[in-house]
Amino acid sequence: MYEIELKPEEFKLFQTYIYEKVGISLGKEKTTLVKGRLNKRLRQLNLQSFKEYYNYLTNDANGDELLFFVNAISTNVTSFFREEAQWRWLEGYISELIATKKEKKIRIWSAGCSSGEEPYTILMFLQNNLPDFENWDIKILATDISTKVLTHAVEGFYAQKDVEQLPKNIALASFDKINSDNEIKYQIKPHLREMVIFRLYNLVTDPFFFKNKFDMIFCRNVMIYFDETTRQDVVGRFAKLLPKGSPLFLGSSESLMAHKETLKLLGSSIYKKI
Ligand SMILES: C[S@@+](CC[C@H](N)C(=O)[O-])C[C@H]1O[C@@H](n2cnc3c(N)ncnc32)[C@H](O)[C@@H]1O
Repeated sequence: MYEIELKPEEFKLFQTYIYEKVGISLGKEKTTLVKGRLNKRLRQLNLQSFKEYYNYLTNDANGDELLFFVNAISTNVTSFFREEAQWRWLEGYISELIATKKEKKIRIWSAGCSSGEEPYTILMFLQNNLPDFENWDIKILATDISTKVLTHAVEGFYAQKDVEQLPKNIALASFDKINSDNEIKYQIKPHLREMVIFRLYNLVTDPFFFKNKFDMIFCRNVMIYFDETTRQDVVGRFAKLLPKGSPLFLGSSESLMAHKETLKLLGSSIYKKI
């Protein structure tokens, strides 16, 4: 099928706009990806050129098209218990965390939570490793810029294959098995869903309104598209929200170039506030 060309000067327009709006730095090598992924969208909208699409995108006041664009060029890939080494590290850290607590209260931020596997894994982990789990006041703030993934996350339905590969005791304690239209699906149990607050939040452009600190912050595989300045800025804000000794988890392929005086690498892309 005929493909609409993306001219270098048009690509530059998208580069600037996306950087300003979501902090994603689109390298020139992404030209083919943008062209390929958005051609269908242009046809759907009956547009003849990427310049026309650029005008459509920038005039869309409610931001839906920006979300569409970001979803098309980034990835929401995620899974339960991703980055296994970090969960093993947490098994050892949990008693340290409990020792610092006067109240049985835990607050965690999953920043860039995608379809919810990460915040729900945190809860599955705590349910399995935190003594007296049901008597703790636990809240996970889970944020993302994509409404599509957040809707999925709030509903908490997951595919049979993803749930059945979890340890049996964890799957049984965390999911209800639902048989609908001859298809088996699993839904996160209500007592766990209630502990997560899902919110639309752009890490780069939204105001930093947090008043209270978090016991830990997960921001894994989110900043891969950000340039170094944006990454430093976001991480600097995370550091302010962590009490001394608390961990920040990044994705295993991510490392920090800055903030060495406040965040110390412990291994497996886990950083501790010092
Ligand atoms: C690859 S997923 C990672 C999900 C999960 N943290 C994990 O490691 O499995 C990256 C997520 O970051 C979100 N994201 C990208 N840019 C963002 C931004 N500026 N603010 C908030 N979320 C963002 C995407 O929508 C996507 O859902």
